[in-house]
Amino acid sequence: MSVEPSASVAEILASRSGEEMSLNDRYLNPQMGRILRTLGFDKVWVGGEGAHLIDAAGERYLDLFGGYGVFALGRNHPEVIAALQEVMAARTGNLPQLGVTLLSGVLAEQLLARAPQSVAAMVPANSGTEAVEAAIKIARAATGRPRVLYAEHAFHGLTLGSLSINGNAEFRDGFGPLLAGCDPVGFGDEEALARELAGGEVAAFVVEPVQGKGVNLPSPGYLPRAQQLCNEAGTLFVCDEVQTGIGRTGRFLALEHWQLQPDLICVAKALSGGFVPIGAVLVSRAAFEKVFDGMERAVRHGSTFGGNDLAAAAALATLRVLEREQLVARAERMGALLLELTAPLVERYEVVSEVRGIGLMWAIELGAPSGSAARRLWETVERRQPGLFSQLITVPLFHEHRILCQVAGHRMNVIKALPALMIEESEIRRFAAALEQTIAAAERYPRALARFGLRTGIRAAAARR
Ligand SMILES: Cc1ncc(COP(=O)(O)O)c(C=O)c1O
Repeated sequence: MSVEPSASVAEILASRSGEEMSLNDRYLNPQMGRILRTLGFDKVWVGGEGAHLIDAAGERYLDLFGGYGVFALGRNHPEVIAALQEVMAARTGNLPQLGVTLLSGVLAEQLLARAPQSVAAMVPANSGTEAVEAAIKIARAATGRPRVLYAEHAFHGLTLGSLSINGNAEFRDGFGPLLAGCDPVGFGDEEALARELAGGEVAAFVVEPVQGKGVNLPSPGYLPRAQQLCNEAGTLFVCDEVQTGIGRTGRFLALEHWQLQPDLICVAKALSGGFVPIGAVLVSRAAFEKVFDGMERAVRHGSTFGGNDLAAAAALATLRVLEREQLVARAERMGALLLELTAPLVERYEVVSEVRGIGLMWAIELGAPSGSAARRLWETVERRQPGLFSQLITVPLFHEHRILCQVAGHRMNVIKALPALMIEESEIRRFAAALEQTIAAAERYPRALARFGLRTGIRAAAARR
């Protein structure tokens, strides 16, 4: 069925629901379609509310993906919707370009009031990767140095500059040559960092306070020491808080856990309220003034939609709700509860090697069990595809418990959760119980695999039809 270009959103939603997968396969990403069918995740999502997604049958699924971490407030928060409606009703003088606007200025004021004293200006962007691109450019221009260091396993986005500081080969491969002068150091390896900084050519060290791919936590002294090494070397210390920022780890910014004072801070994701793409770099006054150092250099960096009114309004509403509903403290409390409920799984199940987290950024790592029979079974699954064992957990969680979560990166047996910060305590408890039940079933491997194999076989056959 085709659609008239004049059809309204309401008409499209009413008349074409159910065509999502076929449209995706025809025009978007058929390989994603295959994954969804294989895992049986090919639902028609018709709604979202708070921490839940709602399918066409009206069933509610606990969403622990959180749209890769954008739904800090939960989905469709009425106050963000109201803020966006207010902007449109006000018919603001959006995007004057040769002019400035109020909402973006107030957002900068509000973000900087919640950030460490080391930053004093905001450079707007439209996404996480754009914020990181801006940070790389600002660091190079401010220092006049070419090199950028990043941590192994880092993820900073997928445009070419951000990809050049991506510590995962599966994302980089095939897209080279990437930016020259970008080199990895181990996450936590202070000596390697000191060695690389010694030449005096490094503009910036870009680091996630907690790594999103795998949910890797830093050792307690690492980030302060890294900052100190950067300061001593005249290298800008850049915290990528795109995923960890805006309350996720139980602090407004994760850097507060270590009282860091970075030169640049990247934020994005949750600032959107789950509605309007946004990003921003908070920049020290010194770095800012070296880049934008004269009238002829006022538009040296920027983008058409940076600082637009809808994004700024969504971000301001997000900050307001975060504070009124005390979601940052709630993230800390709910995260502690989730850890308390799930940490004992390490002792109880051979296949669980670690449970870790900070605030509502949580992960469970599975590993080969020590018993020889169990180990053989693990190896059989992993030979089929590294990281497959995790799917013995995520697939039943989805189908039997209506909980959406996934692996934390390619070829790794780490399952991750980024729930909405307003998640109910009862849902945390439900997830922990479902997780334990599913792990217990997966450890009794033959039946679990048979079930999984059967299901994926059936789905794959359906996908071929
Ligand atoms: C730490 C970090 N930086 C940057 C990005 C890129 O953000 P975006 O997908 O909005 O470009 C991500 C996305 O997952 C991220 O987790």
